[in-house]
Amino acid sequence: MLILGIETSCDETSAAVVRDGREILSNVILSQLIHSGYGGVVPELASREHLRSIIPVYREALAKAGIAESDIELVTATYGPGLVGALLVGLNFAKGLAYGNDIPFVAVNHLEGHIAANFLIHHDLPVPHLTLIISGGHTSLVLVNSFGDYRILGQTKDDAVGEAYDKVAKLMGLGYPGGAAIDRLAQSGNRNFFRFPRGVAREESFDFSYSGLKTAVALYMQKLTPLELEKNKADIAASFQEAAVEVLVNKAVRAATELNIETVTLSGGVASNSRLKELMQEAMREIGGKFYFPPPSLCTDNAAMIAAAGYFRYKMQGASDLAVNAVPYLKLVSSQ
Ligand code: KG4
Ligand code: ZN
Repeated sequence: MLILGIETSCDETSAAVVRDGREILSNVILSQLIHSGYGGVVPELASREHLRSIIPVYREALAKAGIAESDIELVTATYGPGLVGALLVGLNFAKGLAYGNDIPFVAVNHLEGHIAANFLIHHDLPVPHLTLIISGGHTSLVLVNSFGDYRILGQTKDDAVGEAYDKVAKLMGLGYPGGAAIDRLAQSGNRNFFRFPRGVAREESFDFSYSGLKTAVALYMQKLTPLELEKNKADIAASFQEAAVEVLVNKAVRAATELNIETVTLSGGVASNSRLKELMQEAMREIGGKFYFPPPSLCTDNAAMIAAAGYFRYKMQGASDLAVNAVPYLKLVSSQ
């Protein structure tokens, strides 16, 4: 089955063609650059950019996959969570396409899309497994019993880990979004330069907290002269990063041990982080577990993961009603 995926929940306009939820024929991702000067995504600008780009991005996805519109057998699109105006562009485009061509449509939860990225690329992915959904808007530790059957073990009580990266990057003048820039800068820094607080929420819970870490970095930077700041920028980035990722690794590994789960996966934009992958790899090796993560193009928001999730949902419960609306605060819920 040839599936079209559409993703416009935030600042990436993406269209993809995936065969049977497992084989990517194309995955076109246009990251909106317009927000970089604002230090964050400007919702109205995001909607306008999606409107401008959705048709060219869709056409490119078809061309790269070497298929015609009439070859599409299932249309899928993100309906939440995300910015309502941004979601509406992709969702309405997808619904119109499905209606006009009389093909089934499936509305996809963006978070389930991130979970699907690992199923899409790792055909031997074991279940049950634990996944950390870590992005600019989310930080959750989820037990995936099977695709569609989840238990939310913990989530952030305040900022998302990607948000902390972006805010620290802004303080350092690294632009928006700044996660990847901090990752790069940290590679030449000393990660033991300063010990920033590990935001653990409650030690015994699987919840997270990142606002304290962000504030600690801001306060630390305020005390430095511009010259000191410039000299130690890489060290501060590396020290911040160590605090940010250590908590993720510790909680995921503790959950794996306590629940007796062998496999941990990463998903979402922060899953590209090099230090996180390194530490997780080491920790999972120590406990004799397995560790999976998607390639960078499937970590950041992309339509291939949406197409895969939509296909798996279609197999489970058929098509969605075309009356489905965008749900900005859509959650991933635990099964009973
Ligand atoms: O999944 P995503 O594209 O969008 C959301 O659903 O939020 O994630 C974007 C987030 C941003 O906060 C970005 O700074 C962060 O992922 N990010 C990274 C890296 N690459 C992207 N954070 C840390 N290290 C990276 N290499
Ligand atoms: Zn995302």
